[in-house]
Amino acid sequence: MDMRRRGLLLAGAGAAASAAAPAAGPAAWAGVPAFTGPAEDAAAGRGATPAPPGGAEELDNPHYPDHRAWVNRQIRIIRRMPHTVTPLLELPLSGRLAGLRLLLKDETVQPSGSHKHRLVEALYLHALATGRLHRGSTVVEASSGTTAISEAWFSRELGIPFVAVVPSGTTGAKVRLIRNLGGEVVEVPGADISAEARRVAAELGGHFMDQFTYAEQAYDWRGERSLAGEVLRDADPEWFVMGAGTGGTVVSLARHARYTGHRVRTCVTDPEGSAYFPGWRADDRSVTAPGSRIEGIGRPRVEASFLFPLVNRMLRVPDGASVAAMRVAARRLGGTLPGPSTGTALFGAMRLLDRMRQDGGTGTVVTLIADPGERHLETFYDDDWLREHGIDHRPWVPVIERFLDAGRWFPPRGHTAAR
Ligand SMILES: Cc1ncc(COP(=O)(O)O)c(C=O)c1O
Repeated sequence: MDMRRRGLLLAGAGAAASAAAPAAGPAAWAGVPAFTGPAEDAAAGRGATPAPPGGAEELDNPHYPDHRAWVNRQIRIIRRMPHTVTPLLELPLSGRLAGLRLLLKDETVQPSGSHKHRLVEALYLHALATGRLHRGSTVVEASSGTTAISEAWFSRELGIPFVAVVPSGTTGAKVRLIRNLGGEVVEVPGADISAEARRVAAELGGHFMDQFTYAEQAYDWRGERSLAGEVLRDADPEWFVMGAGTGGTVVSLARHARYTGHRVRTCVTDPEGSAYFPGWRADDRSVTAPGSRIEGIGRPRVEASFLFPLVNRMLRVPDGASVAAMRVAARRLGGTLPGPSTGTALFGAMRLLDRMRQDGGTGTVVTLIADPGERHLETFYDDDWLREHGIDHRPWVPVIERFLDAGRWFPPRGHTAAR
């Protein structure tokens, strides 16, 4: 900066008073409790500054206290956590698909059990470093359960109270996991868990983490240690395929590809009832839909983190096909049970592989094992539950098995959409 101008700015800033400097006590940031923390934080931004003479004004931030020592400590704890490089598993393909590979990055080995471990690490760092998460705040999140489990895990490590707002009917196993990690769970009917989480946060004076808005901003899309970095380096795929909840995972991988010059393309597999597919097809972010039954993916509206330009292809997947792919993979992955959103992605991966075969192409398609099937034993792995919810996976099982075993794709009678 020009020194003369800098001098002027400094003179202006220094010339006046802090008559309006913050008094000790609650900040204007809604609900932040009276500051009673350690002296190291008390030194920052508090107390009246003697009024400079001459009518200029000088003011420490009266609304957002700088709890720097606390923030630094939290960030240090996160940065010191060991990094898990997750393994790539291979789903064997028929000899007719020679030259093609289907790999699954197994995110279930993350300390909090899913790919959301990476997102939540990023969300905490983002919220802390941007001053949105304060000492004394309770973290509140809207989640289908997977993100909330990872947030409960991080909150416990950081000593921050945590409340999850989940849709009623969320798998009991997930609710129990959140509670066992010390989180509270609020189950709400209806689709708008974000509005309810915002309300709960305001009531508690807490911080609404808001993954659906901040995932794309918070995710590390440049770093080599990111999910994208590991996938592109270790698998070098033609396609990355996955469903979108926030959309943050797909979007960060697409960004990393552009940043590093990688050729990979992204395919989002969207379940029935989601607004993403019709919204993306029409390039209309105002599209709404009833909402998805495949936990973690498909949303009733187009969320802020789902960035249309970074999605190369989309595929609408019937729920029965998602469950069939999940169950066939569970039998073939040697003990690793995937969750239903992985089934949706696997179905899309097989459709891509079939197209690549028809085009005479070779290469690798990668997806994630996003979360463990053990969280869905009472639901998507339970035939009675599937019947009660009107999901029929049976016609799709032979379609998927025949593709994996013989490299041929015959959709079941009456289903031509996914041909
Ligand atoms: C099980 C599961 N799979 C996939 C996703 C999609 O991930 P993203 O939010 O990055 O789009 C989610 C998101 O909640 C999830 O819970």
